[in-house]
Amino acid sequence: MLTVTDLHTYYGESHVLQGLSLTAADGTVTAVLGRNGVGKTTLCRSLLGLTPARAGRIVFHGTDITRLPPYRIHELGISLVPQGRRIFPSLTVRENLAIAARAPKRPAGGAGASRAVWDLQRVLSIFPRLAERGGHRGNELSGGEQQMLAIARALVAEPRLLVLDEPTEGLAPVLVAEVAGVIRRLREEGTSILLAEQNAAFAVKVADYAHVMSKGRVVHSTDPVALWNNEEVKTQLLGVPPSGAASPLRREL
Ligand SMILES: Nc1ncnc2c1ncn2[C@@H]1O[C@H](COP(=O)(O)OP(=O)(O)O)[C@@H](O)[C@H]1O
Ligand SMILES: [Mg+2]
Repeated sequence: MLTVTDLHTYYGESHVLQGLSLTAADGTVTAVLGRNGVGKTTLCRSLLGLTPARAGRIVFHGTDITRLPPYRIHELGISLVPQGRRIFPSLTVRENLAIAARAPKRPAGGAGASRAVWDLQRVLSIFPRLAERGGHRGNELSGGEQQMLAIARALVAEPRLLVLDEPTEGLAPVLVAEVAGVIRRLREEGTSILLAEQNAAFAVKVADYAHVMSKGRVVHSTDPVALWNNEEVKTQLLGVPPSGAASPLRREL
C-alpha cells in the first residue's frame, strides 16, 4: 500500500531524513519507532506533503505522491493526526467534526472502495465519550478526550491510511490503554494505520509490524514480538530499560 524509498528531507540546510525506506501493508498497523529527534514527525510531514522530501520516492496505492501538494495527498486518502493533537479549542466537539467532514471526498470505487465508510454516526459509535460531550468546546476536554477528537476528525475524512503521530504523548496510562483499544478497533474495521511512537511498549501491543529509526533512517524492521525480544535494539534504539522490565506482550501471548 505504502512504499517509501530512500527519502531525504531537509529543514533549510539541516538534513533530517537521510535515506529513509520503509513499507506498510494494507489493512495493518505499522509502527515507526525511535527516540526523540530521530525524524518520526518529519517522516509524517513528508508523507503528507507538508515538508516535501528533496529526494527519494513515496508511492501510495500505486501513485507517486512524493511531489504532490498536501490537499492532493489528503484527497488520495492519507489523513494525519498531528503530534500535539491540534483541535479547534473554541469550537464544540460536533463543530470540530463537522468542519473535518467537509473535506473533499474521493470519487467512489477504486482500490479503497471496500473500506469502512466513516460517517459521523459511525465515528461517534467508536468514541462514546465524544458523543456525550458533543456540545463541549475543545478546550473543555481532557487530554485523552482531545486525542480521541483529533483521531475522530481524521476519520470523518474517510482515510485509506491514518497517520498517528505520537498519539499517547502526555496521556495517563488508563488513557493510553483507551487509545490502544481505538487503534485495535479501527484495524478490525479495515483502516490501515501508520503509528509514529516513542512509546515502544505501547506500540508493540497494537502493531503488526515495526520499523525502528535512528538518525533519519530505518535501521531495523521486524515483527513486534521479535522486536521486544531484541534487548540490543530495545535498550540502544528505543530507550527501554534493560531486562527486568515487564513485557507488555506477556498478557497477550
Ligand atoms: N521546523 C524545524 N526546523 C528545523 N529543524 C527541525 C524542525 N522540526 C524538527 N527539526 C529537527 O529535525 C530533527 C527530527 O525532528 P522530528 O522529526 O520532530 O523527530 P521526532 O518526531 O522523531 O522526535 C530534530 O533534530 C529536530 O530538532
Ligand atoms: Mg515527533
